[in-house]
Amino acid sequence: MSGRYEMGVLLMICIILLSCLPGSPVHAAQQGNAVFFNPPYFPSACNGNQNDGVLVAGVSDRLWNNGRACGRRYRVRCIRGTNEAPHPCKNGKTVTVKVVDYCQSGCQGIINLSRDAFSAIADPDAGIIRVEFDQ
Ligand SMILES: *[C@@H]1O[C@H](CO)[C@@H](O)[C@H](O)[C@H]1NC(C)=O
Repeated sequence: MSGRYEMGVLLMICIILLSCLPGSPVHAAQQGNAVFFNPPYFPSACNGNQNDGVLVAGVSDRLWNNGRACGRRYRVRCIRGTNEAPHPCKNGKTVTVKVVDYCQSGCQGIINLSRDAFSAIADPDAGIIRVEFDQ
């Protein structure tokens, strides 16, 4: 019996227990590409002609969940650009958006931000950016 083996087992147990805690990787930030669209931001798939303000977004299939995503709020942060625009991110900025729309198949991002939301965290000239987001 080596103490090393037992340490290994202990470590495994710790990792398993940790992954069940709130704030664990299960609930951690996700990553994906973000695109944007220009105003007007309504009508929307969730709320029809209701004006939900300017910090809104559409989400694609992975998050949409048959409309259950409606009303959810995501805090979004720009990580990097995905094309030639060298430094699109406004460092350290986050924006919280409310899901009001569906970004249909062919959507080039997991999240389609309003131009207002996108420009709060990145230069719209980039067109598409890599983001990290959580609820
Ligand atoms: C973003 O959302 C708008 C409004 O729903 C839509 O017209 C546009 O096609 C979407 N952008 C992309 C890249 O799918």
